[in-house]
Amino acid sequence: MKIQPSDKPLLDWAGDSLAIGLFEDAVELTGDLAKLDEQFAGVLKELIAEEEFTAKPYSTIFTRVSAGSSIRKVILVGLGKPEALKLETLRRAAAAVARVAKKQKSKTLALSFPLWNNQPAATAQAITEGTQLALYQDIRFKSEPEDKGAKIETVDLLGLGGQEAAITLANHIVSGVILARQLVAAPANEVTPITLAETARAIATEHGIEVTILEREDCEKLGMGAFLGVAQASDLPPKFIHLTYKPQGTPKRKLAIIGKGLTFDSGGLNIKGAGSGIETMKIDMGGAGATLGAAKAIAQIKPDVEVHFISAATENMISGHAMHPGDILRASNGKTIEVNNTDAEGRLTLADALVYADKLGVDAMVDLATLTGACVIALGDDIAGLYTPDDAVASQLEQAAETAGEKLWRMPMEEKYFEGLKSGIADMKNTGPRPGGSITAALFLKQFIKDTPWAHLDIAGPVWTDKENGYNSSGATGYGVRTLVNWVLAQ
Ligand code: BES
Ligand code: MN
Ligand code: ZN
Repeated sequence: MKIQPSDKPLLDWAGDSLAIGLFEDAVELTGDLAKLDEQFAGVLKELIAEEEFTAKPYSTIFTRVSAGSSIRKVILVGLGKPEALKLETLRRAAAAVARVAKKQKSKTLALSFPLWNNQPAATAQAITEGTQLALYQDIRFKSEPEDKGAKIETVDLLGLGGQEAAITLANHIVSGVILARQLVAAPANEVTPITLAETARAIATEHGIEVTILEREDCEKLGMGAFLGVAQASDLPPKFIHLTYKPQGTPKRKLAIIGKGLTFDSGGLNIKGAGSGIETMKIDMGGAGATLGAAKAIAQIKPDVEVHFISAATENMISGHAMHPGDILRASNGKTIEVNNTDAEGRLTLADALVYADKLGVDAMVDLATLTGACVIALGDDIAGLYTPDDAVASQLEQAAETAGEKLWRMPMEEKYFEGLKSGIADMKNTGPRPGGSITAALFLKQFIKDTPWAHLDIAGPVWTDKENGYNSSGATGYGVRTLVNWVLAQ
């Protein structure tokens, strides 16, 4: 599918479906729209009245227009109140249109939307993202993909002539989101530490960035006892992934992005019981998925910022050589951890990944992790938890997420709760009491950072959606990629 900017007047466009964005309440056909309606003998006005269309956000109606006209169908989509228009409204409205057009077997589509904030570039980017992300379908594991409408071949963005660069930017970002979705949705017999490392290598080769994969022995030499403790039950080798994007010339800033990369989380000997969602735990590399997706996007966008992409990839399994509950591990910063629960494995793998990232001398770092069920209990399925002692990084990420339309909410780093992780025998335990479980997880991570500004995003909720939601189809969402890209580009 090709999305292209167009300066063609509405009245001159010819093709299968013409979609028009309308604001709530004042659903009046004025200017070119009135003329268009005249061409169709008033069918649009009739449709609006008949369907009592009030242009509520993302609501759609459509009609076949008179045979012999240069347009087959007109789709009207609601944008809500003009003063409340957000980029996310445009993304979701574009997604709603794309779904209708596909169902209607339109091969050519045009969208005529108002500008957000008089900014054609941001408008074109949002519409492109919403359209592409809504139309992505994961058919990799179907032997006979069911036909869900025809393929849309071209999408013209009317009134957005000259916005090629914004569309290209959106396409780079979308390629990263789709990679993240594919990695998260693929099962644990498909996406393993080995294939994650291969994916990282493929990104490096395709987009010309650096890659280092540390093998078990390399990690041993670095003293990564926490990561390797988790990895020791798996029959698959752990892979410590490190991609580096370096701009030409001196970078403005240096950043690190770290993703939890558990390709499967059985819980270990504290095995996940009935109702724990063990069968969904292929998603436990969602942080790594977002990290690799961001790497793919950044490597194409080429900003003036150096970015390190890191994931300690392994599985949390059971076997005769699994960690015992109660084992004491030593992380690469020398700190010792009493593993009182083998199911709190993500923080163990992240501990060594954070120590490694901290040594790179970056200006700031962010980790993304499907870390705790407690965060899902606190914030639900759609909202990630943001944990950071650093107000500047917090507001950067809040801004980046707002622009992306990815929801997050800052949670407190209540230092007193670290008492819950006190161990009688080691420097700390890996789990505390159930209350505030996502906060103690974040406080645990903080023990492995010296003074690099750092934030942690718990994405256990939004990494996946059971129902179609806006431009997300049911399944993996690719959450985090767009926030990360915005964060990097805003430096
Ligand atoms: N991967 C899970 C967290 C998770 C839960 C992700 C639900 C996605 C959806 C994590 O490794 C885990 O098992 N956390 C435990 C921590 C507990 C043992 C302190 C949890 O949340 O129950
Ligand atoms: Mn776990
Ligand atoms: Zn986990």
